[in-house]
Amino acid sequence: MTSSSVNISFRLAEKSDLVKLHALELDAFGEPAYPIFLFRQAIDLWPQLLWVASDGAELLAYVLLAPAAANPHELSLMSFGIASQAQGQGLGKRLLAHIQTELLRYDPQLQQVWLTVKPSHTAAVRLYQNAGFVETARESDYYGPDTDRLVLTWHCQQVKKS
Ligand SMILES: CC(C)(COP(=O)(O)OP(=O)(O)OC[C@H]1O[C@@H](n2cnc3c(N)ncnc32)[C@H](O)[C@@H]1OP(=O)(O)O)[C@@H](O)C(=O)NCCC(=O)NCCS
Repeated sequence: MTSSSVNISFRLAEKSDLVKLHALELDAFGEPAYPIFLFRQAIDLWPQLLWVASDGAELLAYVLLAPAAANPHELSLMSFGIASQAQGQGLGKRLLAHIQTELLRYDPQLQQVWLTVKPSHTAAVRLYQNAGFVETARESDYYGPDTDRLVLTWHCQQVKKS
């Protein structure tokens, strides 16, 4: 089943998803990938912030967020991955829109969500910008030398008022 199917549901991740979630991570990103225990810890620590898209049998996408230590109304979007067979069919767009609605339901005072992305990753940058994320910083050595990253931020309250 592909993302063009109407039978895809978005829901919070559960412990029983862990093996498939890690396989999805490897499929979407390759190595280096988040280890399976990171997903387990995320379910324990932030149960409202790890979402999956499922067609009932397979996991087709996931998104992981975490709260910022300094501000309870700020989140970091740590990872966003679509299964390789479901990419380029609108699932990323649908999942991101769903998450934006759910995050505002989870925290009506949510102020901003930020993420980092490789500047050359056109598909991801376009996806986030179309969803209201704007460039707020650029770091040339994010992980070390020559690891450019754009910081993109969704200012939720501004979007809500407009
Ligand atoms: C990047 C990713 C999240 C996009 O999700 P997706 O479901 O494939 O994207 P969608 O089909 O919803 O399309 C979203 C936008 O990206 C564009 N896009 C999708 N695939 C593209 C490609 N290969 N090249 C250029 N643009 C592309 C679409 O045109 C669309 O833009 P539009 O609304 O202006 O038409 C997904 O491909 C993915 O998980 N890739 C591997 C992991 C990854 O890179 N995650 C993001 C890390 S920051």
